[in-house]
Amino acid sequence: MKDSLISKNARIQQFPLTGKYIYFDNSATTLTPRSVVNAQRSYYEEYCVNIERGNYRLAQRADKAYESSRAQVARLLLGCLPQEFLFTRNFTESANLVAYALEHPLADNGRKKRFSSRQPLIAWHRGDSILCTVMEHHSNFLPWMRLAKRLNLEFNVVTPDSQGVLQPDAFIRAVNKKTRFVAFQHVSNAFGVIHPVGDIVRSIKKKNPQALIFIDGAQAAGHMPVDVNALGCDFYAFSGHKGPLGPKGTGGLMVKDALLAKFHPFCIGGGTVLDVTLRDYTLKNDYQRFDGGTPYIPGLIGLGAAAEYLSRRIGLAKIKAHERFLVEKLIKGMRLIDGVQLYGPAESKMRAGIVTFNLKKWLCHDVSMALDEKYHILTRAGHHCCIPAMRFFDILKTYGGNVRVSLHCYNTEREVEVFLEALRELAG
Ligand SMILES: Cc1ncc(COP(=O)(O)O)c(C=O)c1O
Repeated sequence: MKDSLISKNARIQQFPLTGKYIYFDNSATTLTPRSVVNAQRSYYEEYCVNIERGNYRLAQRADKAYESSRAQVARLLLGCLPQEFLFTRNFTESANLVAYALEHPLADNGRKKRFSSRQPLIAWHRGDSILCTVMEHHSNFLPWMRLAKRLNLEFNVVTPDSQGVLQPDAFIRAVNKKTRFVAFQHVSNAFGVIHPVGDIVRSIKKKNPQALIFIDGAQAAGHMPVDVNALGCDFYAFSGHKGPLGPKGTGGLMVKDALLAKFHPFCIGGGTVLDVTLRDYTLKNDYQRFDGGTPYIPGLIGLGAAAEYLSRRIGLAKIKAHERFLVEKLIKGMRLIDGVQLYGPAESKMRAGIVTFNLKKWLCHDVSMALDEKYHILTRAGHHCCIPAMRFFDILKTYGGNVRVSLHCYNTEREVEVFLEALRELAG
């Protein structure tokens, strides 16, 4: 494995900030490659017109760029079809979109329309339950908890093993005939675990084939190859500004075809309808009924350019291997520093490019601040929007959370060495 995945020149040219800082906060958001910025600039400068409503040629160019971006993002980042893929603002919006459709039927879509339904995505019954896990980011916890409260459903929570890994057995024990919806993460943003998602999905479906499964891919998409069909889930959501290196304010959601046909959008208006009378309206019967109003056209076109950059110019499998290589080096070095408490699995196969830790006698925020002020190393500290997980591992009271080093394709072995040296100095 080389020191870096991208040559020094290309790195500075594509990601100018890497020349000034050691950027280790990639789980919060990533640096945007110049090619993605250029794709947005080219929209603004060359064909800055609206989509879906114009006949003139420039409008057709914008339509084509927008739809081909959808196809690229769906295929390259998730391995799904464009008609199963919705653009959103971020992961959080994707989850809330699903929560809305789990509560609201498509029944208001005209009286005799072929795809209207009197039930929301799930026809809930008394005693039904939603299953989530203690490891989740609040964005993959609160929408489901609120839904359970509103519909009077049970809200149950699976716990991980001592290393933070969600195990299929725990789901097998928790799932029963009343479990109608299960939400859990692909990769943990607070402990860096890659969970065995395919095995968990198979275990759940074996126990209850009716249960719908939603995966939080916010820390997986763009960091590794993802094939939603192989995983077998019903929904898969991510943010464009994280792993995919896309513009801020972009994201996506895969919804299985059969579910999309019954899926009620929470935002309706221009662009979402086939017909409107003074008494009624008929929504479009495909993914376009989710494009209410003018979307973030340059950003979503930029997301397509980002998918292209990641999968064609660099390679998702190479990114996964590079992050693992750096993580192994980090962990090996950190284990030798007195006072460092590491979190997450011992086995590097179960780890994404995220290492979280604490330094004995230090609050996590002070470590992060010192790394910035003395060494220009940008890390994040705190509960990472995972308060239940922090409480479960009893980290909150002693340290205020943990310190997170999170990586991407532009990080280098040299940066890891500088970080280890800095940590050695801080630990004294
Ligand atoms: C695992 C996980 N899920 C969901 C989110 C929410 O992402 P966003 O703020 O882009 O909606 C994050 C953000 O850090 C995350 O790490």
